[in-house]
Amino acid sequence: MGAPACEHRVPVFLGDRSYDILIQAGSLNQLGDICQGVGLSGRIAIISNPIVHALYGRVVQRVLKRAGFACITVLLPNGEPAKSMTWLGKILDELVAKRFERRDAILALGGGVVGDVAGFAAASYLRGVPFVQVPTTLVAQVDSSVGGKTGVNHPLGKNLIGAFYQPKTVVIDPHVLQTLPKREWVAGLAEVIKYGVIADQGFFEFLENHIEDLRNQHETVIPDMVRRCCEIKAEVVAGDEREAGRRKILNYGHTVGHALEAWGKYSTWVHGEAVGIGMVQEASIGQFLGRCDREVVERQTELIREVGLPVAMPKWGFSDLWSGMQHDKKVVKGQINCVIPESIGRVQVLPLDRSDLQKWFSQTNVHGKRRTTDPHKRVSQNRLSKKK
Ligand SMILES: NC(=O)c1ccc[n+]([C@@H]2O[C@H](COP(=O)([O-])OP(=O)(O)OC[C@H]3O[C@@H](n4cnc5c(N)ncnc54)[C@H](O)[C@@H]3O)[C@@H](O)[C@H]2O)c1
Ligand SMILES: [Zn+2]
Repeated sequence: MGAPACEHRVPVFLGDRSYDILIQAGSLNQLGDICQGVGLSGRIAIISNPIVHALYGRVVQRVLKRAGFACITVLLPNGEPAKSMTWLGKILDELVAKRFERRDAILALGGGVVGDVAGFAAASYLRGVPFVQVPTTLVAQVDSSVGGKTGVNHPLGKNLIGAFYQPKTVVIDPHVLQTLPKREWVAGLAEVIKYGVIADQGFFEFLENHIEDLRNQHETVIPDMVRRCCEIKAEVVAGDEREAGRRKILNYGHTVGHALEAWGKYSTWVHGEAVGIGMVQEASIGQFLGRCDREVVERQTELIREVGLPVAMPKWGFSDLWSGMQHDKKVVKGQINCVIPESIGRVQVLPLDRSDLQKWFSQTNVHGKRRTTDPHKRVSQNRLSKKK
């Protein structure tokens, strides 16, 4: 049986590892057919967490069972601590205990945390078993479920242990976002805005013109918005699966963002919030280095702020920022690869050394306001009048 007709189908072209991202309201109910459609025939291990499982676990089990799949369920604890070697080990223990075989599959039902660790389990168990992503947060639907980056954190740094491992398909049901806590929805918007800045000025303008809809999580904007993000990610990943070059642009906001997450012990900001602050700061670095105009920084900051994301840096010192960056994979020979916007829709990757960053840090007031006259109020008024 083939996969059911789909509102949006975004192909990810990766040779024999190609797959489709299916975006359709209600697609959770069609998971059984979809799994059959991508060739699964064995058992399925559903990896989830107690929050997501309580909401959607039963329906997923039911539709898979109806399609003839025997399922087991492994629940990880909620939150970033589940992305650890300990919890990866627990999944693998369970697969071994239940004698999972090569044709059996792993299905991630949850946000980016569940998807990353379940994907790494799928990559490593028996050197690779089929994997299906069913992302349930906005971050996971527009970003983490697509592109095959899987892994866990090390106590000294995020995502330091992992593998590139592509899913057989990604099944996105925008309906599930309705139960997402507001904070998690807004956090996902940071990754959405990121796509506009790195690759699509028109999409950025669309977001600027739909701020109310975004804030209110209006269902009419969601499928098209998620589709555009997936298209951009799919195109970037298809051109550079293992991040030798262009894929690095997807890390925009993440150099500072990951340092912030680590400094906040993964509990002060959720991932998307840290990325939002990171984008504001990385654009500020670009402006400081003369690579982009103030207007770019201002437009981006305003959009991030208006959708409800934090923009201010904490009161930390330069050494906190620099040491937080050192465990990042983007560090090469002491230099850090930082993505800098040139204009809305175009970015470049710049290797920066400690002195570049130190100068920027000491010459800009990174705790919210700039030392130069703060233009945000004036810009807000200009943009609002333009929108009318
Ligand atoms: N692999 C990649 O390419 C990639 C890209 C971006 C982010 N990430 C990773 O993703 C992680 C962040 O993912 P996240 O933001 O999805 O966080 P998350 O997975 O922790 O989920 C956020 C919260 O939402 C809850 N939740 C999930 N779906 C829900 C739903 N439909 N209704 C109600 N509650 C729901 C979760 O239980 C959790 O409490 C980070 O570890 C980050 O590094 C990976
Ligand atoms: Zn991210």
